[in-house]
Amino acid sequence: MFKINDNYLKLPGSYLFSTIAKKVNEFTNANPDKKIIRLGIGDVTQPLAPAIIESLHKAVDEMGKAETFHGYAPDLGYEFLRTTIQKNDYEARGCDIQADEIFVSDGAKSDSANIQEIFSIDNKIAVCDPVYPVYVDSNVMAGRTGSYDPATERWSDVIYMPCTADNHFAPEFPTENPDLIYLCFPNNPTGSMVTKEQLQAWVDYANKIGAIIIYDAAYEAYISEENVPHTIYECEGARTCAIELKSFSKNAGFTGTRLGYAVVPKDIKSNGVTLHSLWARRHGTKYNGAPYIIQRAGEAVYSEAGKAQLKQQVAYYMNNAKVILEGLKKAGYEVYGGVNAPYIWLKTPNQMTSWEFFDYLLENANVVGTPGSGFGPSGEGYFRLTAFGNYENTVEAVERIIKL
Ligand code: MLT
Repeated sequence: MFKINDNYLKLPGSYLFSTIAKKVNEFTNANPDKKIIRLGIGDVTQPLAPAIIESLHKAVDEMGKAETFHGYAPDLGYEFLRTTIQKNDYEARGCDIQADEIFVSDGAKSDSANIQEIFSIDNKIAVCDPVYPVYVDSNVMAGRTGSYDPATERWSDVIYMPCTADNHFAPEFPTENPDLIYLCFPNNPTGSMVTKEQLQAWVDYANKIGAIIIYDAAYEAYISEENVPHTIYECEGARTCAIELKSFSKNAGFTGTRLGYAVVPKDIKSNGVTLHSLWARRHGTKYNGAPYIIQRAGEAVYSEAGKAQLKQQVAYYMNNAKVILEGLKKAGYEVYGGVNAPYIWLKTPNQMTSWEFFDYLLENANVVGTPGSGFGPSGEGYFRLTAFGNYENTVEAVERIIKL
């Protein structure tokens, strides 16, 4: 008789954004006349930029001719894309990352869930609390997290690094040494950022204790302040301890087209074995590459026209962030984030729990957000709003919230 992977049974409830979608669907069915404004999941609303569309059309036409048709993509991704990424995201910032250390994928969500496979099951993970749920859930599925305590909402074998208003939503070194450290900056969900000095301290710490940092930089395009690292490889020593994950979803609107990449420097080794070789082996065995047309679209992100158009798109979303941040501040809410990230993290009013505020907002303002507690126990009493809506809806949502 077959047996299931019963680690899946340990997962409490369903995936956060599936639970929210279910609740919103129920509300919509019961209230078909209500206009819901969705500022929950961080999904973009603006269309793909013209430079990207042009590149997509061209690539589609190529696929229709025998001379320019493309079948399976190379394991690591097309050379044209990896070289473009290397030049723009690393060389231009003075970072020593080579094109063959870049692995093109279908997005940072998959990479952040899959990367744990190349590590021993005995490794102990450390995560920020609150945290993007994929990091923890993928480790639960693998059987690396021990048992779940519903009272504390914590896993016995996970090290939690609380990120609260008290520490400006920046994690502190844990008392117990972890093996794998997940960091995400600009941060989802709190919208916080760390300085270059703070990130350098994490790199030094990881190198000292022999840990790996899995650095999710999906929201890098939203950085607006100086002295803030755009990549972890700006830090000295990151080549021996850090894997970086990037996404085309947030900077270029690829949530529906899917594209991302992981950087695994060849200098990271365990007993002489490089992580690079393991990730290459995994990619070769389990993945046939992002589609040619999408990789060409990704290349257009770095064209002069693409860069200019996407700068405007990011500015559009960051203007929404400002509308939310300033509107709620004026209304007396305690608000964070929204400066280097497209997320606004607010304290729920009147001691409401995160889910109480979710229901309250849905029922009374018909606005959907994300309950902070869905990201971890330290998110309780907080709530996340995304700046990825369209401008008109964002303004209306803020007006509705202020009127409550
Ligand atoms: C979020 O809302 O946290 C993100 O959209 C989720 C994701 O990027 O997968």
